[in-house]
Amino acid sequence: MPNHLIIEGPERGVLRITLHRPEALNALNTALLGELAETLTGAQDDNQVRAVVITGSQRAFAAGADIKEMAERDLVGILEDPRQRHWATIARFNKPIVAAVNGFCLGGGCELAMHADILIAGEDARFGQPEINLGIMPGAGGTQRLVRAVGKALATQMVLTGEPISARRALEAGLISEITQPELTLERAVAVAETIATKAPLAVRLAREALHKAEDTDLATGLRFERHAFTLLAGTRDREEGIRAFQEKRPATFSGH
Ligand code: HXC
Repeated sequence: MPNHLIIEGPERGVLRITLHRPEALNALNTALLGELAETLTGAQDDNQVRAVVITGSQRAFAAGADIKEMAERDLVGILEDPRQRHWATIARFNKPIVAAVNGFCLGGGCELAMHADILIAGEDARFGQPEINLGIMPGAGGTQRLVRAVGKALATQMVLTGEPISARRALEAGLISEITQPELTLERAVAVAETIATKAPLAVRLAREALHKAEDTDLATGLRFERHAFTLLAGTRDREEGIRAFQEKRPATFSGH
């Protein structure tokens, strides 16, 4: 049983994971990250899970890596840090993640949120990479994913000044896709995840992979991947079902085959 997470579901295809270290604003210590990696590994093999929602509390999604724990690690400790393995597991997860963000979303917390496919935030959310204030820098994708999400200008300002941005600014910059009243953020994220969970799982998986290619390959390679993935889906029963359901004017029921 995880100690630092609350796990609910899967319900209607959606597994809910709540980061739960209220005494430290959900700072990501090794134990929490390990539990998260383990939970996602289980969810990957569970056909009932079609999408995951990750959230924190109203006060904080997560205020970063655990600074107290970090203080105990020297250079060799960081080189051999088991958290790197947990981050890699989270990054490899192959189903859609929707992040529901309220309050502080800083450092490793912002990096975790950027591992999500879709970010939905309450209007009080604050996104930042304040590591520079500690004499360090982002280490779980913050420099790379932030540039891809918001562009070089704003990412550079955020990383080099350590100053956070508001949810409104994050929406304008493209880091998040929707802004909500803080008390509705989770509900909205779950609704989005439930919508995805009704779609054909193989189509979701390949579309998601193709979208990822847009971030890390050149256009020609990405287009080739898209074409192959599109062609592959022609062999699925869910494609037949989707097209037949449209013709018969009824909702499709997808099986994952
Ligand atoms: C450990 C943390 C923490 C953190 C907050 N707490 N952030 N503990 N690691 N990242 C603890 C505080 O010590 C305090 O516990 C409690 O949570 C409440 O925090 P307060 O500071 O009292 O709250 P507040 O005054 O509202 O200020 C909120 C805050 C501030 C602005 C978010 O806590 C803050 O600046 N936190 C650090 C943010 C940060 O620098 N993050 C980046 C971390 S480095 P006690 O018991 O002391 O009262 C990082 C590197 C990633 O993320 C690299 C990945 C490989």
